[in-house]
Amino acid sequence: MEATVRLDTAYNAGTIDPRIFSGFLEHLGRSIYGGVYDPGNKLSDADGQRTDVIEAMSGLNMPYVRYPGGNFVSNYDWRDGVGPDRKAFPDFAWRATEPNTFGTDEFMKWCRKVGTEPMMAVNLGTLGPAEAAGLVEYCNMDTATQYAQARRRNAGTDPYNVKMWCLGNEMDGFWQAGHVPADQYALKARNAARLMRGMDPSIELVAAGSSGRHMPTYLAWDRTVLETCWDDIELISAHRYSNNRENDTPGFLAEGVVIDSILEEYAGLLAYVKGVKRSKHDVYVCFDEWNVWYRERDGKNRDGKWRVGPDQLEEEYNLEDALVCAQYLNSFIRRAEVVKVACLAQIVNVIAAVVTSPTGMLKQSIYYPSALYAATAKGLSLTPVVTAPRYDASDREGVAYLDAAASYDEATGDAALFLVNRSVSDSVRVRIEFDDRDVSHAGDVQILSGDDPKMANTWSNPDAISPKNGSSTVDGRGLVVELPRLGMAVVSGVGTRPRA
Ligand code: AHR
Repeated sequence: MEATVRLDTAYNAGTIDPRIFSGFLEHLGRSIYGGVYDPGNKLSDADGQRTDVIEAMSGLNMPYVRYPGGNFVSNYDWRDGVGPDRKAFPDFAWRATEPNTFGTDEFMKWCRKVGTEPMMAVNLGTLGPAEAAGLVEYCNMDTATQYAQARRRNAGTDPYNVKMWCLGNEMDGFWQAGHVPADQYALKARNAARLMRGMDPSIELVAAGSSGRHMPTYLAWDRTVLETCWDDIELISAHRYSNNRENDTPGFLAEGVVIDSILEEYAGLLAYVKGVKRSKHDVYVCFDEWNVWYRERDGKNRDGKWRVGPDQLEEEYNLEDALVCAQYLNSFIRRAEVVKVACLAQIVNVIAAVVTSPTGMLKQSIYYPSALYAATAKGLSLTPVVTAPRYDASDREGVAYLDAAASYDEATGDAALFLVNRSVSDSVRVRIEFDDRDVSHAGDVQILSGDDPKMANTWSNPDAISPKNGSSTVDGRGLVVELPRLGMAVVSGVGTRPRA
């Protein structure tokens, strides 16, 4: 199969925000207890934090990690998780016992070790604006006041200067502790935003948007929240978990079409509310939960039986899942003007990029798209014009076999390509051409592919799905890359020069 990608550096979606390569860590299952935090284990440091996990997380180059939930946060009192007197409590969301031995200060330490920044979610379910502002005081203020002093006592540190804050989580969902209709959430979020920003004017705030496109209130919820909170927020959240319940690989691999639609729908809504308000302020999308999740979703996964660190949501990921993850990232890059933050949900043990055992750690297939993209995508998001053969997926017609995104570093003239071949049977020869530049040297190619869409990394075969070297060739003024079936490629360091 043959495909072309045409680019022009003048035709772009603006600068790619590196925050689209962020992650999400929730107090859920073995994510914290037995994952990030495992005191007494030989693999843990003096703080009880797993060093193999820290190393793997550093490799994801995540600018931010969202914490502590998720559904968990909507009945969580952060004050129980700081200081010498930790109180265990029954977690409503996942029916587990939360011992609170890992809390805000431990998370801040962990972020420093990983080389990431904290993105804190506040409880707007069972708590409210005062407690949220209290957490901003605890994290960011240098005053002689109750919570700032508590932080000094507990952690002996300067303020943490947490920049990003989420105003609750999935408050549109009936399952959420403290769920209320959109207008009530919007008022609570606005009050919280004003109180929190009163503590620290430099923070960025994310309102809770719809928890998915399947929700009956999708976009209507978001519209109410945006109309009420517009001037008080910088971002609104979007969530999606993809599934292949039908076991239809070609249909599943067309998933990027839906991700594009969601971003298009949010772009339209944001433009609409801005227009109605005649506002000069902009609000962007924070896609702070995205992944594949369907195998470990029901039954025991919802009920931790009040244990500490039970096995929950331990999804095993395969090649086709990684190819869908790459499509999420392609969409985020292509819509750089709309999406400023996105978080892979999640990162450790729970629907996660890595899983741990008491003696080791395994990188799942979905680790690699995030790791490769975060290390490569920089600068402008060039808008690709793709010409490729198409197919009809189960409920999606005319889907191009090739999904592509591109970045361009204006300082060096280097470009990078992000390519996914959706075909289960045919490789594709991709020709990349710039309308305004010539390719001067070929790039480094990293390929993730395999013969079977269900291939997965296992403890006995941990590198079954891992990046392999590919190649690219300068051909005339363009570049040619061979992409295997069921494959994705990250092509970095493609040299370009102005057209002679
Ligand atoms: O990531 C798992 C759960 O999915 C989160 O707790 C919740 O926000 C979403 O429904």
